[in-house]
Amino acid sequence: MEEASQNTETVKKVFIQTYGCQMNEYDTEKMFEILKHQNYFQTNSREDADLIILNTCSIREKAENKVYSELGRLRKLKSVKPELKIGVGGCVAQQEGKEILSREASVDFVFGTDNLFELPEMLKKVSRGQKIIQTKRHARQKVRNFIPEYAFQQTQHHGIKAHLAITKGCNNHCSFCVVPFTRGIEVSREPENILAEAQRLTSAGTREICLLGQNVNSYKANGVDFVELLHRLDELENLQRLRFISPHPKDFHEELADAFVTLPSLCEQMHLPLQSGSDRILRRMRRWYTMETFYEKVAMLRDRLPEATISTDLIVGFPGETEEEFEMTMEAVRTIRFDLIYSFKYSTRPGTRAAEYPEHLAEDEKSKRLQILLETQGKIVQEKNEALVGSIQEVLVQGKHYRKNSITGRTRGNHSVHIDDSCAIAGDLLSVRITGALQNSLEAEIISTSTVLS
Ligand code: SAH
Ligand code: SF4
Ligand code: F3S
Repeated sequence: MEEASQNTETVKKVFIQTYGCQMNEYDTEKMFEILKHQNYFQTNSREDADLIILNTCSIREKAENKVYSELGRLRKLKSVKPELKIGVGGCVAQQEGKEILSREASVDFVFGTDNLFELPEMLKKVSRGQKIIQTKRHARQKVRNFIPEYAFQQTQHHGIKAHLAITKGCNNHCSFCVVPFTRGIEVSREPENILAEAQRLTSAGTREICLLGQNVNSYKANGVDFVELLHRLDELENLQRLRFISPHPKDFHEELADAFVTLPSLCEQMHLPLQSGSDRILRRMRRWYTMETFYEKVAMLRDRLPEATISTDLIVGFPGETEEEFEMTMEAVRTIRFDLIYSFKYSTRPGTRAAEYPEHLAEDEKSKRLQILLETQGKIVQEKNEALVGSIQEVLVQGKHYRKNSITGRTRGNHSVHIDDSCAIAGDLLSVRITGALQNSLEAEIISTSTVLS
């Protein structure tokens, strides 16, 4: 629990439940900072809280349903604690707005993805018993730098790893995706503002920064493009590791591939969301690349860095996907041999183009395809992890593992590693030898503690 910054007489407790992607996790961190200035302590217990906020995700139907079942549970909590205030923010809130208030009477306020910074005013009104819906989008310029200066003034230690949002929104309108509706048009934050936040983070002990954006590599502001921004961040003292998520394959160019070689902090890891291995489906998804160009992008990276870790996102059962087209996705998976995949059954999202497409597949067919994909990928991951046994890797220690006398950290390729050692602490940079391969992680022994950073 962190210390609130103002007088302690009116201190209250807030619980935030976060769903969805890293952008939502980032927004939750900012909400905590804003609320700290309103004398709210963070609590990890719903029962203990005076204020509960759900930071929601609507990327798939399942994610959205979770919100309504959680609200059902909170209704019971509120019936025994009527002074409890409940807010719903994030992507479901942005899309559904007043629908949430009419469906769930226990909710006091609903706010959209651009309205985080209006929380203090909203809470004032809510404390007077008003119900609030605040999902209005603000002018581009106003949201450009996302975070008001005051939210940083007393920023505490953020941990060894931190997220840093550099763009928000998305202009791509892939036919399956709800994000352009929930996050609005793409806006790039000013480079000076990003560097100031990065500086603050590294001064507070952060050693690894992951840049966030829906289409992070299309960043451009004040004449600075994504690669130039990476160069500027790489110069920061004490920043050991730099990553980014999520880039779009169509905007992955030679200059970015070169940056992986020239920038010492930029980790040899790339997320390249493929979605489907069929050109026809890619066209219908509005992804703007073909399998041929995707293979070229993979080669662009592997020619420079054969060891680079490549992960991807895949959707199975997109409307109209035939058996043959699904087999093309399997072919791509077997050929490229991704180190990690995030795979999803297509989920219809209201308002998107694909929702109107004909030939939606039955749920059990989608499940069958997902299962085939997961089995093949499971074997690839096992083989790739086993191939790492005996190799020397650099590990940034994250902290203690739940196993006694064991610590956990990540390689530059972002593999999770467990090490039997009780001495190393979070922030240590170790040179290790990989001794074992598990399903989702590696085991290792320490060769040397090259730098103690903390
Ligand atoms: N901006 C990122 C993706 C954000 S959403 C990008 O373009 O790569 C994360 C992933 O969720 C997507 O890559 C896609 O694989 C999946 N996804 C998005 N909408 C979906 C839907 N309607 N059904 C199933 N999966 C979906
Ligand atoms: Fe969605 Fe496509 Fe934008 Fe990614 S690039 S957020 S999948 S619309
Ligand atoms: Fe979900 Fe919104 Fe992120 S829909 S994936 S929380 S941008």
